[in-house]
Amino acid sequence: MSDTAIRHAESADISALLDIYNHYVLHTPITFDIEPRTRAQRQEWLDQFRSSGRYQCFVAAQGGKVIGWACSTRFKEREAYATSVETSVYCVPDHTGRGLGRQLYARLFEALQAEDIHRAYGGITLPNGASVALHERMGFRHIGTYREVGRKFGRFWDVALFERPVAALG
Ligand SMILES: CC(C)(COP(=O)(O)OP(=O)(O)OC[C@H]1O[C@@H](n2cnc3c(N)ncnc32)[C@H](O)[C@@H]1OP(=O)(O)O)[C@@H](O)C(=O)NCCC(=O)NCCS
Repeated sequence: MSDTAIRHAESADISALLDIYNHYVLHTPITFDIEPRTRAQRQEWLDQFRSSGRYQCFVAAQGGKVIGWACSTRFKEREAYATSVETSVYCVPDHTGRGLGRQLYARLFEALQAEDIHRAYGGITLPNGASVALHERMGFRHIGTYREVGRKFGRFWDVALFERPVAALG
């Protein structure tokens, strides 16, 4: 992993970000999007991020190729929720289980600690052993589970909710 660079996402990353995400849209229940995102939709998503502030996106690149990303997005629209973010992290399938998710989340949370954010939340479609382990490892705590909250591939799926303080962890 020593040749892996973690940096803020840039406009030029759009194709890689789209490809990684759409792989999981099409083949897994990890995200509840069902139709692949278009480039325009993913561009709009990418446009929400800045190099500082509550909403940031980091990519991991190896030899110029983006192999994963982690980002923070608005948790809910109503104003008082602004101090909470939702975080997510995706690695390309052949780069999982090698510490990349941990590296991406560590960089994201390092950046978020400088911001006015109190809580971070992650929602994990079950089962997903790698994501549960990563969230627990990164200081998240399981706070509940929505039962059969979404239907994809003709069946219902549970989503486990994970929460962690942002400022309080060093
Ligand atoms: C979930 C994901 C981001 C984790 O990243 P990763 O690079 O594979 O995980 P890491 O190698 O950094 O490992 C993080 C922890 O999970 C554990 N872990 C990794 N893969 C695991 C698996 N398949 N089952 C159980 N634990 C696993 C590791 O041992 C490590 O724990 P430790 O630090 O206590 O030893 C990655 O697997 C991924 O992109 N999966 C598909 C997309 C996804 O599920 N995204 C999350 C949506 S909620």
